[in-house]
Amino acid sequence: MVTRIAINTGGGDAPGLNAVIRSVALSALNRGWEVLGIRRGYQGLIEDDAEGVTELTRERVRGIFHQGGTILGTTNRGDPLRYPVLRDGQKTPTDVSERVVKRARELGIDALVALGGDGSMRIASSLMERGFPRVIGVPKTIDNDLRGTNVTFGFATAVDTTTAALDNLHSTAQAHGRVMIVEVMGRDAGWIALHAGIAGGADVVLIPEIPYDIDRICEKLHDRYRRGPGFAIVVASEGARETGADKLYKIEKDAFTEHAMLGGIGARLAQQLQERSGYETRSVVLGHLQRGGSPNSFDRLLAQRLGCAAVRYLAETDRSGLVAQIAGEIVLVPFAEVVGGTRSVDTACDTIQTARDVGICLGD
Ligand code: F6P
Repeated sequence: MVTRIAINTGGGDAPGLNAVIRSVALSALNRGWEVLGIRRGYQGLIEDDAEGVTELTRERVRGIFHQGGTILGTTNRGDPLRYPVLRDGQKTPTDVSERVVKRARELGIDALVALGGDGSMRIASSLMERGFPRVIGVPKTIDNDLRGTNVTFGFATAVDTTTAALDNLHSTAQAHGRVMIVEVMGRDAGWIALHAGIAGGADVVLIPEIPYDIDRICEKLHDRYRRGPGFAIVVASEGARETGADKLYKIEKDAFTEHAMLGGIGARLAQQLQERSGYETRSVVLGHLQRGGSPNSFDRLLAQRLGCAAVRYLAETDRSGLVAQIAGEIVLVPFAEVVGGTRSVDTACDTIQTARDVGICLGD
């Protein structure tokens, strides 16, 4: 029987984390359970820190559901299986999972609600194999690339932010007769670029799933300038790449992180397009703006549906897994179906077809 649960938030933050924390806490407290918050992923269980684990009372979660970020803090360098431990003056990746399992037992935690993406779900299932209590994962990432669910919270808000940026860029692009390139996040999946590109009226959308040909993009620009608008908007996913070329990285992967940091495609394209097409071109990187701010209404609702479903699964079943939205309903998906890869855009889906039908160039 579950009477004491913990919550943590891991990986890059996303709008809606606090809404999930509040909904999990309230629905657990309303069942008479105790709720603990673990600071910065699993760090609160690893470090000797008096603030590492805090009780989440009604007062503590009051008024947070519309706030961005996470009251618990997060990290993408806190994997307990390769945790940075200082040895001989140097940080060394170390497996501290035994300590994490022991601390969870000492704290009397019956279950953990883990808010995260693919990395967090992999960590949760590895910890359970090592004796950690059961875990219900909640799908978080602006990238929308988590397997096992049709949607992650944070994505819709990131698309809104990106769409608003595209709206703003239209006027300056038009005023100067320029090509404006917007580099957006998404890692190896093009969800943000595709959705915001269509919603924001882009002329070219480049996603990792469809390698691009620079000549196709130039043809599209010439066609558009010839027809009259005299400016163009290009959305490039950070993981987009030219046919036959590699993706561009800004920061190499190190021993503590899951991924190398992508970046640079916008600037590279701006140079290439200006040279080849002759149109004055500028680029802008939206970066972490896409992760900040208040969750929109879709994410606030989704976050609370997922958080409450996580608690219901803990109360009514003895299962672990990811609370996922599939065909509009919240269901529990085993971690085995979630970990080990990410979810890309299906290039045959209707959203891709929609882009093509309205004349958006996808670079192919
Ligand atoms: O996964 C979310 C994400 O924002 C990616 O889109 C991006 O590539 C990455 O995280 C950046 O991570 P950070 O700056 O937190 O290391």
